[in-house]
Amino acid sequence: MKTSEFDFPDAISLQRPADDLLRKAEGRSRANTEYVLITGASSGIGEALAHECAQRGLDLIVVALPGEKLSAVQETLERKYRVRVQAYETDLTQPGAPEALYQWCVENEFTVKALVNNAGVGHQGAFENGGITNKLSLLQINMLVPVSLVHHFLPMLKGRKESFILNVGSMASFVPVPYKCLYSASKTFVLNFSRSLRFELKDTPIKVSCLCPGPTLTNAQNRQNARSVGRRGTLLEMSAPEVAKSAVTGMLAGKEIIIPGWKHRFLEFVSRCLPAIWTIRYTGNMFSVAKHKA
Ligand SMILES: NC(=O)c1ccc[n+]([C@@H]2O[C@H](COP(=O)([O-])OP(=O)(O)OC[C@H]3O[C@@H](n4cnc5c(N)ncnc54)[C@H](OP(=O)(O)O)[C@@H]3O)[C@@H](O)[C@H]2O)c1
Repeated sequence: MKTSEFDFPDAISLQRPADDLLRKAEGRSRANTEYVLITGASSGIGEALAHECAQRGLDLIVVALPGEKLSAVQETLERKYRVRVQAYETDLTQPGAPEALYQWCVENEFTVKALVNNAGVGHQGAFENGGITNKLSLLQINMLVPVSLVHHFLPMLKGRKESFILNVGSMASFVPVPYKCLYSASKTFVLNFSRSLRFELKDTPIKVSCLCPGPTLTNAQNRQNARSVGRRGTLLEMSAPEVAKSAVTGMLAGKEIIIPGWKHRFLEFVSRCLPAIWTIRYTGNMFSVAKHKA
């Protein structure tokens, strides 16, 4: 079975020799292992983040919807990088699911030193199209699930010498985007939540970062969406491993906002300088091709 589309070099050629890593892993008890927990790690940016962390010798808890993909990712990460990988399958939008994930970590003595809120969904189409269920479900996974996970894991993260929260926003966090209105609003929430939380936690060991990638080549739907807006969409495309490298480097450096790609950083700067009415006209015009989607 194809487990990953990412072409990462083998761990053997990386920072730590595999034997050394193995010995270290064997010598550690479950109780004193510290993990990076990544939601939505079975594909796309989440899977790339898992590879990037494992490549740096970080042990992982990977979380995604039930199915075959997650155990395949777990197996690949363990074999390739010789790190500890725990897998937890759940639909995080179900009532009590974030708390159950936290309890599972506590019961198994899995200490989390970095919480990566990556699981999320996108959407295109005019607001008036489609039913309410999908709209509320988008808001649930993109906003409420990260808030719940931060709430539950905060005391554990506070107890570490150094710890991290990485929330995944988007370039759409910076500007309103008509025909992606709930998506962009949810990602603005993620950005502002992250920035305020960072300020509140400035005297604790926790560094809060927000990753704001542009169009990233993950699933087929994303590729199609990026291409549907023409050259303006494809010009900014990046691969998931590129995004993940920038994200993990930024998170470990304690950066507040991580925007992978110089073109993306330039665009964010320009959007701050322009009158709001111009930017919304620009994004509205750009995504109007998607207005008939449900
Ligand atoms: N791709 C882009 O262009 C782009 C740009 C900016 C920001 N982002 C953000 O980056 C994040 C990842 O996007 P992506 O494109 O990599 O997405 P993706 O390829 O569709 O992967 C989404 C991941 O989230 C998991 N997931 C979805 N709903 C879940 C739920 N209810 N409970 C548990 N896990 C769930 C999926 O599990 P299964 O695989 O089992 O379905 C999958 O592992 C999202 O927050 C997205 O908004 C993406």
